[in-house]
Amino acid sequence: MGDKEKEKASDFRYATGPAVVPWAAIGENVNVEDLMKIVSFLIRPGEDEAHYEQALENVRDALEELSEEGTPTTKLAMGDKVQELEEEVKSFLGCKYASFLTNATAGFEISYQFAGLRPGDEVIAPAITFISTVSYPLEIGARVVFADLDPRTLLMDPEDVARKVTDKTKVIIPVHVAGYPVDMDPIMEIAEEHDLVVIEDAAHIFGGEYKGRKAGTIGHFGSFSFHEVKNITALGEGGILVTNTDWGEHFNPARFASINMAQQIPNWLYDVTALPSKAGPQAAGNHSATEVQAVCLLGQMDRLEEIIRVRRERAEYLNEQFEPVEGLIPPLLDTNEIKATYHLYLLQIDPEKAGGDIQEFKQRLTDKGVTNIPHYAPLYKFSLLKDLGYDPEAAAASCPVAENAFNHTFTHLPLYPLTDDQVELMAKLVIEAAQEMKAGN
Ligand SMILES: Cc1ncc(COP(=O)(O)O)c(C=O)c1O
Repeated sequence: MGDKEKEKASDFRYATGPAVVPWAAIGENVNVEDLMKIVSFLIRPGEDEAHYEQALENVRDALEELSEEGTPTTKLAMGDKVQELEEEVKSFLGCKYASFLTNATAGFEISYQFAGLRPGDEVIAPAITFISTVSYPLEIGARVVFADLDPRTLLMDPEDVARKVTDKTKVIIPVHVAGYPVDMDPIMEIAEEHDLVVIEDAAHIFGGEYKGRKAGTIGHFGSFSFHEVKNITALGEGGILVTNTDWGEHFNPARFASINMAQQIPNWLYDVTALPSKAGPQAAGNHSATEVQAVCLLGQMDRLEEIIRVRRERAEYLNEQFEPVEGLIPPLLDTNEIKATYHLYLLQIDPEKAGGDIQEFKQRLTDKGVTNIPHYAPLYKFSLLKDLGYDPEAAAASCPVAENAFNHTFTHLPLYPLTDDQVELMAKLVIEAAQEMKAGN
């Protein structure tokens, strides 16, 4: 056996060097049958099932030929593709460190850990976001304090954040909901003044910009989501945590049970070391994603610019349609300083001018067959929060804009992957619903 073959054969995850009797990184290889199951899962039968079955057989033949020619991969986790993805993301975002993870929530968890968040500490989060923005604080018994929203964007209002800082506050987590950036400058000023860590929930905003910088790279940490519903996906789940701070030096063990996989292991003995945090030593969980997910995301990243362009043009079209309609308030679009990703289309109404509120409007849209997304409620309304001892009435009283928006003014419309005809139809039905509500029909 030549040296090169030996090295290949001994490619165990700890890179222990050449071996005559190898310990392979992978248990059972992925074979043609496994691949066929994946292909037929990802591409479902169309109307002509017989033709589909024939096409599938052609794929099987091609895969069999390919597998006779090629050799199976020796790495399925934390290998070259994950690294390639991380390099690509760093250069795309212009940031120093990036770590590919199971999901955005794992990125928040790691960031909260570096911030040294402990039970009893406070985290300021916007009243309306997805629950996982604050899952880690709730899990460990830290206290979530809800900031009210800017009525125009329905994003975290920096002035309310400033009012809600106490001596227990450790973290601010602004959320770029729908792919429109939060006003980050005042948030960073508040953090600087009180020595707080800022974690950007950048789940919706991969590729968006705020004042010439990529959203997600402005706070101390930013975590992006590649869950199946996001603009691009890493095969259903995935997240990328980024930072420009020195905490990035510890991303490797933070993702894999406090073990530094970037280091060579001497004498088959690896050590497990504590992670540093703002509040002392800390242990990590396991949040690593797979090579195949990285391959998928690298491919989708190549299409990101085009996907955002299509979404933006649709949002522009909807704005043109809705602006003349009394009572409808379309969202803000790009400016010199802002580049949104148009993950969701935020539609608000002015109940007085529209002749009814959002609950009635949503019902009218549903009756006409237009999907609208109901899932962003103020978090303090959830039973989980009540069960954990939060007082929903007190929280609601401290967030009047969020309350009003949820009860009376906002919904989200889909933008992609609809056909142009569907977008036009949606615009027409939204306008019809507005006109009928105004006329009381
Ligand atoms: C605003 C927001 N934050 C965080 C997340 C969580 O992302 P992930 O599923 O990658 O953990 C989501 C997912 O839908 C989200 O909408």
